[in-house]
Amino acid sequence: MSVQKTDIIASEPDPNLGYRSFKFGSFEFSRDEYFVHIKWPKGSHIMEIDRFLRAMVRDIGWGFFYGWIFFDDVFGTQNHYGTVDIYAGAYDSGHKAKGIDLLETFSAEDVKKAFETISQDWISEGYDPLRAPLETGRAEGSKGKPRTDPLVRGFTPAKRMLGLDGDNPVRSDEAGYPVNRAFADLEFDQPDIEVEPGFEGQLHAINLFDHIARSDVTWNPSVTAVTKASICCVTSEEHMLPVIHGNDRNEWFIQLTDEIHWNIQDKNSGDPRGRIVMKSGDVCAMPADIRHQGFSPKRCMLMVMENGTPGLEQQYAKGELPPYPIDDDKWA
Ligand code: PHB
Ligand code: FE
Repeated sequence: MSVQKTDIIASEPDPNLGYRSFKFGSFEFSRDEYFVHIKWPKGSHIMEIDRFLRAMVRDIGWGFFYGWIFFDDVFGTQNHYGTVDIYAGAYDSGHKAKGIDLLETFSAEDVKKAFETISQDWISEGYDPLRAPLETGRAEGSKGKPRTDPLVRGFTPAKRMLGLDGDNPVRSDEAGYPVNRAFADLEFDQPDIEVEPGFEGQLHAINLFDHIARSDVTWNPSVTAVTKASICCVTSEEHMLPVIHGNDRNEWFIQLTDEIHWNIQDKNSGDPRGRIVMKSGDVCAMPADIRHQGFSPKRCMLMVMENGTPGLEQQYAKGELPPYPIDDDKWA
């Protein structure tokens, strides 16, 4: 689908708080000390500013991810891998029933530029929405000094494997990544690598827990290994997943330490479908027809496996594939 080029339009800064307001397509965005205000021709919405910014920087950094990213029950994006929908109320039964929802489609590039423009204006030094709430300053209040470091980071894929010559390094003290306070009790033995003659430079091993324990961000998976379309991401989680993810395919979670509580809802209506508490060692598949949000009372480690096969979302959307990954009768 081809879409018209859309530029974001910025106002002059507000004389009291210092923030600009923005118009992108039919959506208007403004913020005050505590909240973002989103308006569209038939409706309006309000959300905590911290929640909005935590979701927005991840949506940019993840390239709009797989499927739907709900910033909350009302506002979010859907990735069509080239174009992106921005919606308000389009997947909320109340807004839909009253006809006050809106969904507009833009090029992914224009949405990225618009979200970056808003985030850069609304995020000041001392506040990092990628960090856990206990490990950063606040989003609330009037505009401070602009941040000079990257707003978005941590989603850099390894080419072959972390720590290989010429590839992304494993995190370390020297690189400025101390072990997080929550993992201070773990032991980080390094593997012995014994290579048969002729295989030098081809065998490699790392202590992945050591790498994850040093992540300075939360709910921001980084790609550690790619095998064809199978993408293995690891991440350290604390507080709540700042988005509600609506799947357009199955994805797998492997809980590496501690626990995460997941709320599972119907993807279209948001009706409750289940709750899962994943404890260390548990594995679960999120089906292709739900949305989910995780809550981690204590920083934990999670492995997420994604299937990046192009066009898979259309096979699920057309019902060519069942929304769950395994048929019970095959395992009976
Ligand atoms: C997910 O939506 O599946 C997801 C996103 C970010 C994470 C973990 C899981 O850190
Ligand atoms: Fe997900």
